[in-house]
Amino acid sequence: METRGVDTQPRTQRHGSGWGLIPRPFSFEWTGPTTPVPWGRDPDAVEVDGRGVAVELRQVTSPEDLGSAAETHPWQVREAYGLEISDRGIRLSYVDREGAHRGAWTLRRMVRAGGGVLPCARILDRPAYRWRGLGLDIARHFFPPADLCRVMDVMEEVSLNVLHLHLSDDQGWRVEVPAQPRLVEESSGGAVGGDPGGFLSQADLALLEVEASRRGIALVPEVDVPGHTHAALHALPDLNPRGCPPPAYTGTEVGFSTLSTQAPGTAAFLDAVIDALAPFAAHGLHVGGDEPHVTAPGDYARLVGMALERVHDHNLRAVAWQEAAHLLAPGDLVQVWDEREDLSEVAAAGRRGVGVLLSPASRIYLDMKYDPATRIGTTWMGTTELRDSLEWDPRQIVPGLAGEAVEGVEACLWTETVRDMEDLTLLLLPRLAAAAEVAWAGSGVGEWDSFRSRILPLARSWHARGLVWHPSPGVDWQEATGVTHH
Ligand code: ACM
Repeated sequence: METRGVDTQPRTQRHGSGWGLIPRPFSFEWTGPTTPVPWGRDPDAVEVDGRGVAVELRQVTSPEDLGSAAETHPWQVREAYGLEISDRGIRLSYVDREGAHRGAWTLRRMVRAGGGVLPCARILDRPAYRWRGLGLDIARHFFPPADLCRVMDVMEEVSLNVLHLHLSDDQGWRVEVPAQPRLVEESSGGAVGGDPGGFLSQADLALLEVEASRRGIALVPEVDVPGHTHAALHALPDLNPRGCPPPAYTGTEVGFSTLSTQAPGTAAFLDAVIDALAPFAAHGLHVGGDEPHVTAPGDYARLVGMALERVHDHNLRAVAWQEAAHLLAPGDLVQVWDEREDLSEVAAAGRRGVGVLLSPASRIYLDMKYDPATRIGTTWMGTTELRDSLEWDPRQIVPGLAGEAVEGVEACLWTETVRDMEDLTLLLLPRLAAAAEVAWAGSGVGEWDSFRSRILPLARSWHARGLVWHPSPGVDWQEATGVTHH
């Protein structure tokens, strides 16, 4: 197991160790006392695209030049950076532009936390996992691009780098497929409970991709097959073996719909959908594969196989939920969600070179209620407080899986009970910060005492933007915001 050079000693400063940093950096070494922030207190004054204030930017060619000989994997170098802060100035070193982006965010966090001063310190930082995501269901309830940009703002602030959009399910079809216009014509208008729907056009996806990239985030689109397809079956009669489309569905059951190899339109549908998403899937195209409770046994492998083949024909990486682990090829990615199930096929996939993405429902399914009194959310995996989302190790979830096979961590938010942005941030925050800490630093085990003070500057920033969050116990939220939560 990797030893992390993280400074977790209690400090005398107000915000404890790490100077209000979430995620905590790989190494944080004090080199002197504090120094005034050269430009005052505005965290947004930190820019790394030519308008820099009082920060010396230094592009280097090798990770050793960042200030440490510590071994760095080639994929880590892209986001690695070094920060040196002294009373003579601030220097941000990086190999790749992404590293400068992450380093600037660390500096912004420190300005926000420090009350006008910065610690004289040397920071060397790089992520423990390359995929640090949020999976967002915009099928059960739809969220338009403007809302998705606000979600990405929250992600960027904690250095998450993948937004996985769940674009189809039983209740709605949320993405334009030019070769199958009926999908959005017939199945995008509604949502759970009869709420209004919506969909992303191809132009919306292009715009979102630009907005994501500006924030150091990759988009990963998902169409879920062969289950979770009632909205498609409703829209396209020829996906149904007898040609009769079922009525629209607005409930919250799962596992009752399926594509069929016996229906005449199945192959053309899969091709059209994957072709429509391929231009927006440079980082992976997710084909779902979860909960195929009513898919005929022989059909599952054939249908998922057809989808995977089309993704691979585009020279893209396929992503799928754990049920499809045995069907994935080396270089693909399997996403673990239900850790109660037998995960031996996931471990086997990891051994043959499939990446493993951890979304254990008991930890980072952020649709779980915090406690029984949470006004929205679900409880099928129990309740999940902030501390539960923090104190776990992604390398300990899948028995028999080598730590190197763990490629990332992704929090998921399913939106059966989430109707607007206020609902959405209530469930995301503060737990998304815990997921981000685990994803960047590698594990959250033993970090609670440090984390619960480091989160205060972040809460101040959420407060300043009017975002709603859940006041999890154990954190002095009033200290951050001056607001008493009840
Ligand atoms: C899932 O929660 N069915 C992936």
